[in-house]
Amino acid sequence: MENDKINITICLGSSCFARGNSQNLKFIQEYLQQRGLKDRVNFKGQLCSKLCNEGPVIIINGKTYKEVNKIKLEDILNKTFNV
Ligand code: FES
Repeated sequence: MENDKINITICLGSSCFARGNSQNLKFIQEYLQQRGLKDRVNFKGQLCSKLCNEGPVIIINGKTYKEVNKIKLEDILNKTFNV
């Protein structure tokens, strides 16, 4: 189980960051913190993912989520962690 880390990558390019990933970043950090999930996740940021028009972009285990807002994000995380 330890090796099955969930990879979460958040686009921190200027467009995505301005369009909502600055809040999404905080939301994910708090979500992981509150539920003690930090050890199960590789969480990293990356530069522009070349999907600015469809941002903010978040990639989880290779799947790209576009236009991610807080409501969508909570739903995605709940599904990812089976909460
Ligand atoms: S800044 Fe995120 S896709 Fe360009």
